[in-house]
Amino acid sequence: MSQIKTIGVLTSGGDAPGMNACIRAVVRTGIARGLKIKGIQRGYAGLLKEEIVDMDGHSVSDIIGRGGTILYTARCLEFKQPEVQEEAANILKKHRIEGLVVIGGDGSFAGARQLANLGIDTIGLPGTIDLDIACTDYTIGYDTALMTAMEAVDKVRDTSSSHERCSIIEVMGRNAGYIALRCGIATGAEDIFIPERRSDFSIESVIKHVKDLRAQGKKHHIIIYAEGMSKDVLPAADLAKIIEAETGIESRATELGHIQRGGSPTATDRFYASMFGAKAVDLLLEGKSKRVVGYRNGEFIDYDINEALAMKKDIDEYEYTVSKLLVR
Ligand code: ADP
Ligand code: F6P
Repeated sequence: MSQIKTIGVLTSGGDAPGMNACIRAVVRTGIARGLKIKGIQRGYAGLLKEEIVDMDGHSVSDIIGRGGTILYTARCLEFKQPEVQEEAANILKKHRIEGLVVIGGDGSFAGARQLANLGIDTIGLPGTIDLDIACTDYTIGYDTALMTAMEAVDKVRDTSSSHERCSIIEVMGRNAGYIALRCGIATGAEDIFIPERRSDFSIESVIKHVKDLRAQGKKHHIIIYAEGMSKDVLPAADLAKIIEAETGIESRATELGHIQRGGSPTATDRFYASMFGAKAVDLLLEGKSKRVVGYRNGEFIDYDINEALAMKKDIDEYEYTVSKLLVR
C-alpha cells in the first residue's frame, strides 16, 4: 500500500455528463479511505494558475445528477511543452498533491503521462461523449449524449414527416462515429454516415436511396450524419442543398451541437462514473501510477497509459451491418 496522503482531481478537454458523479466518487472514496482531496479547477490551465481548492464530502453534495463539471474544464495547448509540464509538477508538489486523477480523453491522458514521468502518481479516467478511447468499451457521458441525440432526432422526425422532407441531422463525435451509428439504429434512420466508413458515402447513392424510398411511400428520410463527415467530406448543409436540387424533395440540415454535451446524466453514466472514480482512488492507494481505467468485457480494468494510448479502436462491424439491414 502507498503512503499517499493527498490527491487532486481535475477535469480536462470537453465536458461530459457524468463528470460530476465521477468527481463525487473520487472525493467521497478518498475521504472514506482517509485521504485529503484537492480539486483543481479548469484542467491543466487552472493547475498552472494554482486554481486549487480543498474538497470535503459536503462540497460534492447534490451534484450526481448535474451535467457539466463543477471543477470547470479547459483546453490548454501550452501544456504540451516540457517546461510547462515541469512547472505544473512543481505546483502539485508545492501543494503536497502526491496523486492526481485526470478525467478526460486521450489528450488529457497524454498530459497525465508527462506528470507521472515527473514524479506525480496519475490515473486517467475516460470522460468524453465521443466514446473514442480505445482501451474502454464505455466512456463517461456517451450514454447521456446518445439519449439526447436520440430524443432530438425523434423530434426532428415529427416535423420531417409532416413536411415530407429529407432531414440531415449532424451529431457530434469529433472524428468518431459512435454517437452517429447507435443514434441512427435507435431512431430507425434511413441512412447513417460515419467517418470510419466514409468510403461507403457517395452523393449518387444517397440521392438514389432518397428517391427509391420516396417511391416506396416513405414520408420522410432521416440521415444521421457524423460531425467528422461534415468536417472532412461534405458539410451537412451542402448535402441538404444537393439532395433538394437533385430529388426535388425539400431538405433541411440540423446540427445538434452542444446540447449533446449537457443535461442530467443517465443512470448508466452516473453508475460507471462512480465506479471509475472509486477505482482511481483505490489504484493510487495501491501505489499504482500512469494508469488509465477502462471497462471491458464486463470488467473494470486498468492499463498502462502508454499501452492505452497506443491502442486502436474501430466501430463494430456487425453493428454497422445491422444498421443497414433495418432500413426498409
Ligand atoms: P481530450 O482529453 O478530450 O482528448 P484534448 O485533446 O483537447 O481533449 O486534450 C485536453 C488537454 O490535454 C489539452 O488541452 C492539453 O492541455 C492536454 N494535452 C493534450 N495533448 C497533450 C500532449 N500530447 N501532451 C501533454 N498534454 C496534452
Ligand atoms: O470531444 C467532445 C466534443 O463535443 C466533440 O464531439 C466535438 O468535436 C468537440 O468536443 C467540440 O469541442 P468544442 O466544445 O471545443 O467546440
